[in-house]
Amino acid sequence: MRAENVSDVVVVGGGLIGLVTAWRAAQRGLSVAVADPEPGGGAALVAAGMLAPVTEVRYGEQRLLELNLASALRYPQFVAELTQASGTDPGYRRCGTLAVALDADDRAELRDLHAFQQRLGLSAQWLTGRECRRLEPLLAPGVRGGLRVDGDHQVDPRRLVSALLCAAERAGVRVHRARVDRVTVTAGRATGVELAGGVRLSAGQVVLAAGCRSGTIGGLPPRVVPPVRPVKGQVLRLRGARGPAGPGALLGRTVRAVVRGGHLYLVPRENGELVVGATTQESGWDTSVTAGGVYELLRDARELLPAITELTLTETPVGLRPGSPDNAPLLGPTALPGLSLATGHYRNGVLLTPVTGDVMAQVLTGGGLPPEARAFTPGRFEGGDGDVVHGDAVHQGVPGNPVVV
Ligand code: GLY
Repeated sequence: MRAENVSDVVVVGGGLIGLVTAWRAAQRGLSVAVADPEPGGGAALVAAGMLAPVTEVRYGEQRLLELNLASALRYPQFVAELTQASGTDPGYRRCGTLAVALDADDRAELRDLHAFQQRLGLSAQWLTGRECRRLEPLLAPGVRGGLRVDGDHQVDPRRLVSALLCAAERAGVRVHRARVDRVTVTAGRATGVELAGGVRLSAGQVVLAAGCRSGTIGGLPPRVVPPVRPVKGQVLRLRGARGPAGPGALLGRTVRAVVRGGHLYLVPRENGELVVGATTQESGWDTSVTAGGVYELLRDARELLPAITELTLTETPVGLRPGSPDNAPLLGPTALPGLSLATGHYRNGVLLTPVTGDVMAQVLTGGGLPPEARAFTPGRFEGGDGDVVHGDAVHQGVPGNPVVV
């Protein structure tokens, strides 16, 4: 086999994370290739696109919250730059979010969340049921109260990923529409990838950014194989006769809900679509649309927003989130010289796209991991015991030099 292509960096995966990595690295002067059988596809075609660090905050994930907030803060500038570079508007809407509760137990859960948000200094305002309906008049009369979070917004992931693909190609990234079979390792260093069919792409650095498939790429020593797994999410897309968001639409902002203990979100798009999600299923690589999944989403959505039955159900997409052992991404160099990871973003891939691009560009240009990413080094799992290593204890590997973990 002969080296067909040579570049500074080859990125395995052409979804949001792979493309933002490629685009940002190319902007910094590196020659970059991306390999993916369907670039611009993957989870971005399914995700609802909530940018919700405050309403999605979870106990025990304060480190991740910091990264999520840092990325949310970068969104306006990121979107402006991307729109200019690609000529595509990625549909960023500063619409805010309302999280509501339907029964007394649901309200207690939201009250706990609010107390936690307040301890963390996050901005969220408690509203009565009546106040919630004043904001969103079509919510069911049974809504018992909720949280108004004006800083949690949305973007359209389908438009975002196509903008990134365009921006990356315009920046000179070469996109190979092929599956990567394995990473090639020569003398203890990642030196490129081999595509299905045997074509080789040689590179000084390899980035694994293949979402939940990142752990399935061959050729790697077991120690650096990322511990990511597929976590299934079923979503509904509906469309109404009421026209785009604004006067006449069912909702003006993203609405999240606790409905008899279950969790639901409804994301209204500017084009009149309503995205309803999502199931969270540990069912391996299964991507079937199940009657139970669709039923539960529709049942809860109707209880929350009765007028939803007027809409047309247009799509029932299914995606696989890249889950990691601590629900946080793996960013930066691994113990294998030349190999970096940008994967495991789980529920936050869309939100973390801007910060991931910046972090990976810095890593790939030899600047090491920036402070905001140090808690997310792949090294926290490489020992095989899955322990999370935080803060200053984490190594900062520089591409080209061996990383000792
Ligand atoms: N971030 C929303 C989801 O993963 O369903």
